[in-house]
Amino acid sequence: MHHRIVPIPCKPYSLNWLPERLIVSHYENDYGGAVRSLNILRDRLVSIDLISTPAAEVRALKREELSAMASVVLHELYFGNLTGQRKEPDDATARALAEHFGSVERWRREFLGTAHALQGRGGWVGLSYSPYDRRLYNEIAIDDAQAVPGTVPILVLDLYEHAYHLEFGANATAYVEAFMRLIDWTVVSTRFGAAVGHAHASPSADNALPSISVEELGALMVGDTPVQVVDARPRNYVSRNPETMPNAVWRDPDTVDDWCGQLSSDAAVFVFCAYGFEVGCGVATKLRQRGFDARYIRGGLAAWNGAARSREVPSLHA
Ligand SMILES: [Fe+2]
Repeated sequence: MHHRIVPIPCKPYSLNWLPERLIVSHYENDYGGAVRSLNILRDRLVSIDLISTPAAEVRALKREELSAMASVVLHELYFGNLTGQRKEPDDATARALAEHFGSVERWRREFLGTAHALQGRGGWVGLSYSPYDRRLYNEIAIDDAQAVPGTVPILVLDLYEHAYHLEFGANATAYVEAFMRLIDWTVVSTRFGAAVGHAHASPSADNALPSISVEELGALMVGDTPVQVVDARPRNYVSRNPETMPNAVWRDPDTVDDWCGQLSSDAAVFVFCAYGFEVGCGVATKLRQRGFDARYIRGGLAAWNGAARSREVPSLHA
């Protein structure tokens, strides 16, 4: 199953100290590249028979899939915690940081020290919660695949030799078969229920307003039916970056009544802005109020570029 690109959760034009072009390039090229790599790897994995494929090839593909998946998750979490809307931890978080690190300030120093130690070699730094021992940790991942943040183990199989060699010798297959018969699914189900309870909420979206993903729109565009696409980015955005979606026509988002009569009311109208926030949603809403079947394009032009910029497999994290 393909991973769909997530519309950028932060507003790239509203982040002090991090320029918009830096955030957008990171989102479109690096995050978009990780999504593309993950989807290519998943296509490859479903196209082969994993039992008859050489083990080394399966291991390499699964390693790369894990690495791509971790890069995707880490980037989505990264962009999601960049809103800058709340500068300090709330009371509950501050209490937890004080409990696990001594004080908020000590946590901050440790986090900064950890980040400093990674400078020059790259990697990720995270504040993570381990449901296993109910503790907060500052952790690093020098490789994307060291951990998928928030992963809660549901079923664990130890395949180190120490787990089976004494009884099964080199016959790991027999050990695995025995293990499969011995799984306590009550425990697995209980763990699964707890893990679901910990699932983080997805980024907020205006679910009341009909919308379409860039992947769904791309599929429509290769069909025979012409698709009405309106580029509703503010004028200064278009003059800065004239590149747009295929067959899109630019219309001023501030003068909907001047141009909406040129649209066909017999077909859906897909509206986008730069990132899929207020502007595109606002124009789609106005068009709907005037009787058009208008839908905004989730994530806007940045999501389109992130999903479609290149067909080649880029490095996961430059
Ligand atoms: Fe990155």
